[in-house]
Amino acid sequence: MNIEQFTDKPEIILTGDRATGPLHLGHYIGSLKQRVALQSVHDQTILVADMQGLTDNAHNPSKVSSNILNVVADYLAVGIDPIKTTICLQSQLPALAELTMYYSNLVTIARLERNPTVKSEIQNKGFERSIPAGFLTYPISQAADISAFNATLVPVGDDQLPMLEQTNEIVRKVNSLAGKTVLNECRPLLSKASRLPSTDGKNKMSKTMGNAINLGSSEKEISVAVKSMYTDPNHLKIEDSGCVEGNVVFTYLDAFHSDKNYVGQLKEHYQRGGLGDGTTKKILEECLQDMLRPIRERRAEYLNDKAQLVDILAKGSQVSREKTEKVLFDVKDIFGLNIL
Ligand code: TRP
Repeated sequence: MNIEQFTDKPEIILTGDRATGPLHLGHYIGSLKQRVALQSVHDQTILVADMQGLTDNAHNPSKVSSNILNVVADYLAVGIDPIKTTICLQSQLPALAELTMYYSNLVTIARLERNPTVKSEIQNKGFERSIPAGFLTYPISQAADISAFNATLVPVGDDQLPMLEQTNEIVRKVNSLAGKTVLNECRPLLSKASRLPSTDGKNKMSKTMGNAINLGSSEKEISVAVKSMYTDPNHLKIEDSGCVEGNVVFTYLDAFHSDKNYVGQLKEHYQRGGLGDGTTKKILEECLQDMLRPIRERRAEYLNDKAQLVDILAKGSQVSREKTEKVLFDVKDIFGLNIL
């Protein structure tokens, strides 16, 4: 889906990130770049999902609270403009929690347990029978996030598609109770970039696994991460022919190097033999250092002025509070609860 096709009909965009760690290159290529482009054309809100972050971190709340401003600084550093994009904090919007309560009555436990993303997260996190109720039900809270803004378009990674499906199920139930369209169904906007592998080529990138390059990573951290990147384990001597598929260095060059012809030539050379991993890593490192240096510097400047970050979040939350209260009123109306 390309961005231009929406220009004649601006969409209401709502997207968000759990505030559980600083954002990394996967976020940048998968969604942040797209949000920067979308903000000039559409009515875009970005939600810092602190409450959703707590659904599996309530025992360690500072993992969430200490990352809220980091995430806002990440947004600003990559070019999200708070004049064009409303940036708000989930816990500052009480309408979201209220909507979650009403929607909870429209969703069965069995349906929640079938959500494939929640299912695999439960397995990965080793919850077994001790699943926090808030975690199992976070798709309902995400449906509240999306519908409270009446969003029509939600830029997300493919792991979030089950959340949008559940959101639309709830929206249809609410509309059918109302006998008219009160809430918009939403569509996903998937990035054209495929999911970026972790530097070890094994897992989904994650801060805790130490296999991601963050937007705020230092020069040294970037250098160490690139040098330890997974390549072709059978490419032992420089003159050997090497494999490009699954070679993380080439995946990152494809994603971030501006000269695609040059990357094409490098791939041919690598496959032919005679191009060492040291050289390809050096090329990638230079590319990433050049790209991340200005982002890291801007990020540090923003984090130096926390009062400004707080102010941006407070203003964005105020605007969002008003929008979401309106939708809450409409939903309460459907249940006949606006009697006072
Ligand atoms: N679940 C999303 C994630 O883990 C974060 C999120 C919360 C979100 N609320 C949202 C995304 C609403 C899109 C729309 O990244």
